[in-house]
Amino acid sequence: MIKVEKNFAQGMFSIKGKVALVTGATGALGGAVSKAYGYQGAKVVMTARNTEKLKALESEFKAEGIDCAVITGDPAVEADMKKAVEFAVKTYGELNILTVCHGFNAPKGILEQSVEEWQKIMDADLKSVYVVCKAAAEQMVAQNKGGKLVVTSSARSKMGMKGYTGYCASKGGCDLMIQSMASDLAPYHINVNTINPTVFRSDLTEWMFDPESAVYQNFLKRLPIGRLGEVQDFVGLATFLASPASDFLTGGNYDATGGYWAC
Ligand SMILES: NC(=O)c1ccc[n+]([C@@H]2O[C@H](COP(=O)([O-])OP(=O)(O)OC[C@H]3O[C@@H](n4cnc5c(N)ncnc54)[C@H](OP(=O)(O)O)[C@@H]3O)[C@@H](O)[C@H]2O)c1
Repeated sequence: MIKVEKNFAQGMFSIKGKVALVTGATGALGGAVSKAYGYQGAKVVMTARNTEKLKALESEFKAEGIDCAVITGDPAVEADMKKAVEFAVKTYGELNILTVCHGFNAPKGILEQSVEEWQKIMDADLKSVYVVCKAAAEQMVAQNKGGKLVVTSSARSKMGMKGYTGYCASKGGCDLMIQSMASDLAPYHINVNTINPTVFRSDLTEWMFDPESAVYQNFLKRLPIGRLGEVQDFVGLATFLASPASDFLTGGNYDATGGYWAC
């Protein structure tokens, strides 16, 4: 008898009824993940620093029938993230999924960037991941039902770039940090993985989508899929890593690049 349970196979990608906290929800990827989770029947708590944008998302999603709530907070501030987790639990009873989608970059060469500017990137992109993952993990351990931590890193975690000492270091740190976190949290059935994108459309990357630009043309040479990412391309992996289908995966860095590393 082949050992695949019918119920598992039929429901392994479902996050219906799960409670998800999404950071950077006001951004391109965080907004898309929140909406996609909501459309799949998850209860979505969205957090970011911009209250007005959060409220606009809440109205948009509620009008679509999505069960959601919002709380303002800075992911690098421990008290804010503890409050966000408490809010999710107070609103929906528990927390099952944390998906980290916030991020920041201010590219500058080492000779031009001050230590304070560099530290700001590290705090926004690395310290914050530790802070919010710790707050979520403590709650998940207390619940004793396992959980999923899905962290948006970057393809830039695997290679340097001019002017990116802060960003590359923070994303490289993120990849390694989640391996350690995965080891710490595996006994509690909490999976921790990263998604490592190249270029997805956002306010900041829109200019790279100009087919006439050298940046676009250079990227295409490395992309067998033949195009850059749209936010909808991101949500499948973000769902997979939040669902029971990925229960055996932890400490992994998963490529969302259109095949950037393939050629
Ligand atoms: N889009 C891409 O091509 C791409 C490629 C590789 C990796 N990534 C990574 O994917 C994640 C999301 O990117 P995105 O394209 O969705 O970015 P985005 O559209 O610029 O959104 C960024 C989000 O992060 C929050 N944020 C901005 N500055 C912050 C700071 N200093 N501290 C804390 N939060 C801050 C913003 O919300 P508030 O201002 O409301 O707090 C916003 O929700 C980031 O980690 C990014 O590095 C993106």
